[in-house]
Amino acid sequence: MRIGIPRQSQSRERRVALTPAGVTKLVGDGHDVFVEVGAGLRAGIDDADYRDAGATVDQRVAVIGSGGVIVQTVGPAIDELNQPDWSRLGPDHTLIAVHDPLWDPGRAEALAGTGATIVSLDLIPRITRAQSMDVLSSMATVAGYQAVLMAAMRSPRMFPMMMTAGGTVPPARAVVLGAGVAGLQAIATARRLGAVVEAYDIRPAAMEQIASVGARPIELDLGSDDAEDSGGYAKVQSDDMKRRQNQALLPYVADADVVISTAAIPGVASPELITTDMVEAMRPSSVIIDLAAERGGNCRLTDADGEVNHRGVLILGPTDLPSRAAATSSLLFSNNVVTFIRHLVATGGDGDGGSPELVWDFDDEITADTVVGRDGEVVHAGVRAKLGLGPVAAERPSSSTGEAETDDDADSEPDTDAEIDDDTEGDEEE
Ligand code: NAI
Repeated sequence: MRIGIPRQSQSRERRVALTPAGVTKLVGDGHDVFVEVGAGLRAGIDDADYRDAGATVDQRVAVIGSGGVIVQTVGPAIDELNQPDWSRLGPDHTLIAVHDPLWDPGRAEALAGTGATIVSLDLIPRITRAQSMDVLSSMATVAGYQAVLMAAMRSPRMFPMMMTAGGTVPPARAVVLGAGVAGLQAIATARRLGAVVEAYDIRPAAMEQIASVGARPIELDLGSDDAEDSGGYAKVQSDDMKRRQNQALLPYVADADVVISTAAIPGVASPELITTDMVEAMRPSSVIIDLAAERGGNCRLTDADGEVNHRGVLILGPTDLPSRAAATSSLLFSNNVVTFIRHLVATGGDGDGGSPELVWDFDDEITADTVVGRDGEVVHAGVRAKLGLGPVAAERPSSSTGEAETDDDADSEPDTDAEIDDDTEGDEEE
């Protein structure tokens, strides 16, 4: 099978979807890998490294070619699809990347319109069997780590407690809001730097994980046990619940030198956990790093990729943290991609000398959940719902929409995680 890795065109994207180690594995599986000249440079990888691994390094148009699998970290934007390179994308291609189709369904529709099979890595189900393909977890790990380093650099306080001849330095106080993959990594990193860390998540199950990485769980008595859905993921909260949550969090946030917020709900805007009043209760020179900036932010005042100084409190909303550690991110992303491609491929013939090719087994949960577009149309039920489209004719089985159930519209959207539970048999949530 032909696998192409064009250079990422986005100016702030330094990652590359496949590293030389990944090339070696895929070439060993019998594939032909083509990498665009300079594709790995911003992640510290030379063209020569790719050649040594067995790839053909070529110009962009040749790498995209007229068919085969194309892998990207982030897929092309709508306005790129008419340009000479991406306009080659057609029915003989499969485009594998993070397309974020539940958040940006219009782009998914445009990509599907090319006729290529569009596969979105961010829709990989959160099941044990798919853990090694899970790019969201990989990138969240990097983002959580990077966020703490950014906070440490921008805070006027050092993190560790120190007893020196010049006096005792108290440790910095960090609060982490949202203790999923990014939040737990942020806690662990802040602890390693010596900060005292407290952390909050709306899912009761997260409390034990918070403690296990060395932070004190912030347990709020909000009078509701309706925080998570049947799959263990956070749900959108009612307005009243949000108000009570904000009030209860205020003293913790006010007392923090650094707040790292990571709270998210798949496919919808991020919850507002830090109101303007809460920012104003913080000491000047405190720092907020809002990892949810891309989806509205957890802080009312966040400006995605901008810097806001509100009464001395610095609020940063970086959206490119995985790209800032491009070598590590690319290593993890590439490993995820190789596992995913191996999942999709079956060796043709009798397995002895047959050519490896993609197999679309829509009875498989991982395949069914990740294919967004085929034969010119959007086929993913959750993305179709976002576009206001009905079911596709003779709809393929899809066990997940990636859509979070909300308090308000629990009946209007398919129940993602309940369906996952039914279908996985033996797969456990992490
Ligand atoms: P995420 O990035 O969607 O959300 C981050 C965190 O924000 C979550 O822990 C969520 O509970 C929290 N959150 C949402 N709304 C909140 C609110 N109003 N207040 C406070 N916190 C709020 O989540 P992520 O990191 O992708 O994973 C979440 C869960 O999924 C974790 O339990 C993780 O262990 C599990 N997981 C399972 C995997 C597997 O089994 N393959 C892979 C990755 C994650």
